[in-house]
Amino acid sequence: MTEVVHTPRVFSGIQPSGGLTLGNYLGAMKRFVDMQNEGIETIYCMVDLHAITVWQDPDKLRRATRELCAGYIASGLDPAKSILFNQSQVAEHTQLAWIFNCVARMGWMQRMTQFKDKAGKNAQNASLGLFGYPALMAADILVYHATHVPVGEDQKQHLELTRDIATKFNHDYGVEFFPITEPVIEGAATRVMSLRDGSKKMSKSDPSDMSRINMTDDADAIAKKIRKAKTDPEPLPSDVDGLEARPEARNLVNIYAALSETSVEQVMRDVGGKEFSAFKPMLAELAVEKMSPISGEMARLMQDETEIDRILAEGAGRARAIAAPILKKTYEIVGMVGA
Ligand code: TYM
Repeated sequence: MTEVVHTPRVFSGIQPSGGLTLGNYLGAMKRFVDMQNEGIETIYCMVDLHAITVWQDPDKLRRATRELCAGYIASGLDPAKSILFNQSQVAEHTQLAWIFNCVARMGWMQRMTQFKDKAGKNAQNASLGLFGYPALMAADILVYHATHVPVGEDQKQHLELTRDIATKFNHDYGVEFFPITEPVIEGAATRVMSLRDGSKKMSKSDPSDMSRINMTDDADAIAKKIRKAKTDPEPLPSDVDGLEARPEARNLVNIYAALSETSVEQVMRDVGGKEFSAFKPMLAELAVEKMSPISGEMARLMQDETEIDRILAEGAGRARAIAAPILKKTYEIVGMVGA
């Protein structure tokens, strides 16, 4: 038995597929910053190899990768504290993913709801990469022996698969090598919904730009989108229970709670019973106060691509230093000569 003590280590990633939203910020990035500032070792990736599971224009991909790095830093990630890099610079991710392709079962992959959603009706025409994507995601995490992964609600099933892969690998080879990773899905905004339809997730792929707040939106755009957000005709309820079956109201309250770093209960104590005509300007003001400095800082950082590329290369070097020995050990366990 190979016994490994797993010290806490955080890993997470975001796809540079263009257009970061308030959902990415509240569900993921803001949490990344919180965990960095708790003093845990944190590794955050721009998962460019995931992005190409659907077609990406090469120039746009390069730009989106740098813009995501700018978004990370503008949100409060510090390259001196967190390791920031793009996935393709650390080949160990794809090397471990191959091993995991041989561990994961077809039946497990076929149950992944995100594949079904993304492939849509024409699954036969989806790339093999899109189908195998969750095994690469497991490799992203486990090549660092990461113990905690902050994500939004929509990634929960992929993290369960990551646990299944680690468990099966450990069992098949009779080792205690890979940690059983804990998903960290916390806070008031683990699932930010569309501003036009409270039953749909806020997403960069929604055809309506009014459905989302982009991290690059300026103050006017943010305020306008909140002013126009869909609501129902009733005033806000007086307590949390009253938000049940009122998805649009619930979403705006969740966003308010997450942006102001309080609980939904506290928000309801403060704004319960108000008309939307009174609540929306409060939310717009808060969103502009928190989000517009980020978009300004992103634009500033994007003016110096050389510096962004330097940060990514430096982060990749630090990431590789952790990943390489873990991959080597994995090869040894599996029986690869020369590992
Ligand atoms: P991606 O790029 O789709 O989303 C990045 C992160 O943002 C969160 N998120 C949301 N949270 C709340 N409300 C929303 N509307 C919303 N939209 C997006 C996502 O939950 C995610 O945390 N497969 C991943 C990327 C990935 C990864 C990893 C994550 C690749 N390898 C390893 C963690 C660990 C993805 O496509 O996320």
